[in-house]
Parts: sequence; C-alpha cells; structure tokens
Amino acid sequence: MKFFADTSDLNDIKDLASTGLLDGVTTNPTLIAKSGREFLPLIAEICKIVEGPVSAEVAATDFETMMKEGEKLAEIAPNIAVKVPLTEAGLKVCKELSDNDVMVNVTLCFSAGQAILAAKAGATFISPFVGRLDDIGQDGMQLIEDIVTIYDNYSFGTEVLVASIRHPMHIIDSARIGADVVTCPPDVIRKLYKHPLTDKGLAAFVEDWKKTGQSIL
Ligand code: G3P
Repeated sequence: MKFFADTSDLNDIKDLASTGLLDGVTTNPTLIAKSGREFLPLIAEICKIVEGPVSAEVAATDFETMMKEGEKLAEIAPNIAVKVPLTEAGLKVCKELSDNDVMVNVTLCFSAGQAILAAKAGATFISPFVGRLDDIGQDGMQLIEDIVTIYDNYSFGTEVLVASIRHPMHIIDSARIGADVVTCPPDVIRKLYKHPLTDKGLAAFVEDWKKTGQSIL
C-alpha cells in the first residue's frame, strides 16, 4: 500500500519524506489556498522533495482550458499527476493526457459508476472521497470495496487512491480491502505510530535498562 500526504505544507512534506515512508503527495485548490503560496512554484518545490507522484489540480471546468492547464502543470516535472474533476469534460481531459503518457488523478469520485468511467478514460488514479460520504451518512468504505472489486474483475490498471481520509481506521480498512494508495492528512499518518501499550512498554524498558547500569555504546 502506498502512502501519499494530502497536504501542501512543505514542512509536513519534508518531515514525512524523511521517514522514507512517503510515496507521493496530493494537493487540491483548498490546500493551496490554505498554504498562501503561489501554486506553480510550490508544486515545483514539492516535486523536488518527493520522487513519487505529486497531484496538482486544474482550476478550470471547461475542456479547452483544463487541457491547457493540464499540459502546463505536466511540464513542471515528470512526477506530476494532473488532477481533474470527475465530469464529462474532466474525463475527456483525462483520456487526452493519459494517451500522451501524462499521469492523471481523477478526483471528486463518489460512486462506482463514476470510477468505471475514470478507468475507461485511462486514469492513473481514481480518488473516491470516503470521509465526505461518511459525513452525509453513506458508507465510504463500501465504495472502496466496490471499486476494488470492479477494477479487479476487469484488470483495470487504474489505482484506487482513497481520499478524504479522516482517521487511522480509514487507512486500515483501505488496506484490508486492498486499495492501492491512501492519501492522508499528515497527522493521520502520524497517529498510526501511536499505541498506549507501546508507550507504556517502552517506559518500562527504559527504566529497567537504567537498573542494569550498562551502556551499549
Ligand atoms: O484531496 C482530496 C481529499 O482528500 C479532500 O479531503 O477532508 O477535504 O474531504 P477532505
């Protein structure tokens, strides 16, 4: 399972990259607005820190402008994945860009039917939003299960990138289902390290080691 960071915060990206566990980054217009930074130079910086795919989203909604934006974003670095919305125009852009060997992340997916269309349009990644479905009383993880099954049935090459992740159980459930990628807010990744019994056990080991009076180095 690949771990992407769903953030445009450079400090978080550098910190997670230093663990060796970070496989990519996803951004969206909301995260860019939050950063207060210029979009294109910020994405270029992220692409230098992270070797894996870095998703950068188009801003327009019409085919022609999305195409131009997508081509411009793709020029930033070879590891750019152009992010397009799951609309008819967005999927046309997806088809054109993927035919030209540009990675495409199709975002704002909320149904299995939409995911089928994205795979047929040659998407590199499909981004179903589990948290936003949970928010309206629907079962986000059920959608992941459905998409993974459907993609397996037809051997679609599109990777299932679970987005809108809110807590560690979303990551664990995604892994149980066999989703390819999770994109997570940095703090949710950090929560995976934590367990109270680990903290308690370590404190006891440290105390007991002191009693031995020894040193390894
Ligand atoms: O980047 C897309 C997605 O991960 C957004 O998550 O928390 O705004 O629903 P959220």
